[in-house]
Order: sequence, then C-alpha cells, then structure tokens
Amino acid sequence: MSRRRLVYEGKAKILYEGPEPGTLIQYFKDDATAYNAEKKAVIDGKGVLNNRISEHVMSGLNAIGVPTHFIRRLNMREQLIRACEIIPLEVVVRNVAAGSMSKRLGLEEGEQLPRPIVEFYYKDDKLGDPIVSEEHILAFNWASQQDLDDMVALALRVNDFLAGMFMGVGIRLIDFKIETGRIWDGDFQRIIVADEISPDCCRLWDTRSERKLDKDVFRRDLGDLIEAYTEVAKRLGIMPENGGKVLAGPKLVH
Ligand code: TMP
Repeated sequence: MSRRRLVYEGKAKILYEGPEPGTLIQYFKDDATAYNAEKKAVIDGKGVLNNRISEHVMSGLNAIGVPTHFIRRLNMREQLIRACEIIPLEVVVRNVAAGSMSKRLGLEEGEQLPRPIVEFYYKDDKLGDPIVSEEHILAFNWASQQDLDDMVALALRVNDFLAGMFMGVGIRLIDFKIETGRIWDGDFQRIIVADEISPDCCRLWDTRSERKLDKDVFRRDLGDLIEAYTEVAKRLGIMPENGGKVLAGPKLVH
C-alpha cells in the first residue's frame, strides 16, 4: 500500500498531493495557535468546523465569480483544492477598528472605519508577519503592480460578499485575512483566493450583543471556541453532520 505524499504542513492545516496533477488535498487540523505560535492548543472539532465553514464561503465565492482554489469537500476534514503558487502576503481587510490596527493607531475597538481598508503583511513567522506597504512589495518583487491591483480588487469583492452574508445572519464582519495564489489558465496567469476563510481568520461579532464568534475567543480567553464556531456554522445553516467524527479518506476523482 502506498502512502500519500505530504506536500506542506502548516500550523492549522496539512497539504497532501491530490489525485490529479494540479490538485492538492487540504486537511484541517484541530491545532490552534495565536501570537505567532506563542500560545498553542488542540481544540477538538475545530478542524471539522473550519472545513465546513470554509467550504460554504469558498463555494459561495466561486458561485459569484470570485475565483478560489476550492474544488469540493471530500470528507469532514479534507477538501480538494487547485494547487497554486502562494503569494507571500496576507491581505487583511478591515471595516471596523480592532486588533493590531487599534493598537497601532490608538483607535477604540468597534469604531467603524470611514471605508474598508486593505493592508498587506509579509508572511514570515520569524519576523512575526510584519505589515508592509505596496512600495516594499514592489521593491522586493513579492508581487507585481498588476498582482497588487488584482489582490485589492479580489479582497474587496470578498469583503462585500462576506459582510453581506454575515449581516444576513446577525453577525458583524469586523475584519478578515485572505491568502492569494497564482494559477495558470491557459496562457493567462490569474490570482485566486487560497488557504481558508473561517472564524480562524476573521473577526465576527454578534450584531446585537457584540459577543465574539471568532479566534479572539481563544486569543483572549473569552470562553469556549467550539461553541462560538458552532454558532457561526448554525447561523449559516451548515452544522457538520456526524457529530464531528472523521469520515473515510478522500476518493479519487476522474
Ligand atoms: P490583526 O488585527 O491581528 O492584525 O488581524 C486582522 C485580521 O486578520 C483578523 O481577522 C485576524 C486575521 N489574521 C489572521 O488570520 N492571521 C494572521 O496571521 C494575522 C496577523 C491576522
């Protein structure tokens, strides 16, 4: 029996070689980290919830023509994705002041921003993912001007989609982070949304009570993370079946 090939292991996910060239299998772990992995825990069932929530978001984005790496969910913890060349930048969109922006600029958490603000962070754990400007990105050749324009356009479309989707279920989208990658479609290079979009990489507050329904529950010890993520999944109408148990492995796609 041959073992599938591990391509990459990150803090919350593992990538395995996919069944066809140009595909990968993305496995969602239960590991939670914060503050550049200074704080760590294993939270039973987190991977299952994030797999389902990310599937829901990415399928919705694909359906409105925002390209993502998501192909389909395979089982409770895995999804089939398109392989892409990850751009080493985290793209953060903020609608409301919170987290590092509040600290950096002395803004009260919860203050509505005049318009959505897009920021870039250079993906480097050793450096703690520092914020960078377009000048840095172009000078160090991490992305081209065209890539940057595409990334901002993509991030703002994701923001509109997510803000509307969450508003419909009584959740205020404060901010979120996406990762992007390059793929080739024939002769054309395109930027697509990669990684995951889940409560691990968004700030989500209940509209009425301002209860936190995202990873800040873990970062700031605000209570039960699974309860918070389950609330998000329930409101979106996507509770995992099977009580969070792992189902059989992936099937070969033809
Ligand atoms: P920040 O306020 O800590 O900069 O985070 C902004 C948003 O981006 C927040 O929703 C959390 C998300 N984020 C990640 O998912 N991963 C990261 O490494 C960072 C820095 C932020």
